[in-house]
Amino acid sequence: MKSKAAVLYEPGEPVVVEQLDVQRPGPGEVMVKVVGTGVCHSDYNVVSGYRRLETLPMVLGHEGAGVVEQVGPGVTGFSPDDHVIFTIRPMCGRCRYCTSGRWNLCTGHAPPPGRMLDGTTRFSKGGQPVYHGTSTFSQYTVVWENLLVRVRKDVPLEKAALVGCAVMTGVGAVVNRAKVETGATVAVWGCGGVGLNVVQGALLAGAAQIIAVDVNPFKLEVAERLGATGFVNAKDSDAVEAVKDMTHGGVDYAFEVIGSPDTTLQAFEATCDGGTCVLVGAPPEGGELAIPMRSLFLDRTVMGSSAGSGRPRTDFPWLLDLYTQGRLKLDELITKTRPLDEVNEAFKDIEDGNVARTVLTP
Ligand code: APR
Ligand code: ZN
Ligand code: ZN
Repeated sequence: MKSKAAVLYEPGEPVVVEQLDVQRPGPGEVMVKVVGTGVCHSDYNVVSGYRRLETLPMVLGHEGAGVVEQVGPGVTGFSPDDHVIFTIRPMCGRCRYCTSGRWNLCTGHAPPPGRMLDGTTRFSKGGQPVYHGTSTFSQYTVVWENLLVRVRKDVPLEKAALVGCAVMTGVGAVVNRAKVETGATVAVWGCGGVGLNVVQGALLAGAAQIIAVDVNPFKLEVAERLGATGFVNAKDSDAVEAVKDMTHGGVDYAFEVIGSPDTTLQAFEATCDGGTCVLVGAPPEGGELAIPMRSLFLDRTVMGSSAGSGRPRTDFPWLLDLYTQGRLKLDELITKTRPLDEVNEAFKDIEDGNVARTVLTP
């Protein structure tokens, strides 16, 4: 069948929205009709060329939700019409990480980059393969069944889409990884799609103070709507000093949600003795962090958190339950909703910093 999809041919160039051929799902695969997909900074990093991919041309997009269209042979966990959210990491369900609840670190058998388990692609154009992962920037996509989580049907899928990456990564860093205690003080460096969900996670955890740090006043405003209690514009002031002043010497937890060594060091320096700095933003290739040993010695911790250190099959349904109860905000995270044809405009908005998240509706 045909599907309209956004294809990256050349980093630095606009992505091309065009009709591709999509094959039926093979064994252990599921075809999903994508209803909503968020545009994440990680997608932008690939389109801008900041992160290089070997598998081009490729259909991008990983933060999505949709409806099961068809299931391949042997798939027993899903049926047509199921509502599903895509995970950003494959989960084999059998390796030592999966079986101990650390699904984000799965080392089991998973499809190779850009292809399905059998090494072939389900997308093509004029008989030539087009590479794909989750590939939610498409009307239809075919994925390995272990990239899907079935969810309740009463949450609009264009909102549920954000749960797969931004919400899980942000809230999960707080509750699954750092396990922030009630009454702790928290600072968040970078209040974009992911950082705003660190703010929400800190609120859920009962943090006493939630300080939003960004260089963009619009992001600080959104952070306030989501529950932040203090605000630092890192363009106007020394963010480390400002956070220390607001917390009597430093925060218990500082989350870096940008992915740069400089801001990670700032976040570390803003923690108090005994505090924890959590790396959430995806680091650059070869990025290194030099921290003063003397500070670390005083019971401080630096920890990484990838994909919200999540348990998607438990956490996605939980996060949607919170949304329906009004305890987790999704609507406020979506600044714009656009058709798939406007994907390049959505990337431009990320560059200009005037959206928390854009959701595309393929
Ligand atoms: N100090 C403070 N804030 C900054 C700075 C800085 N020096 N530089 C950038 N920011 C802010 C931006 O203004 C923006 O609000 O960081 C935020 C980043 O947000 P987004 O662009 O929306 O990125 P997001 O999708 O949240 O992803 C953040 O996590 O998934 C990874 O690859 C992704 O590394 C990226 C990170
Ligand atoms: Zn993402
Ligand atoms: Zn596994």
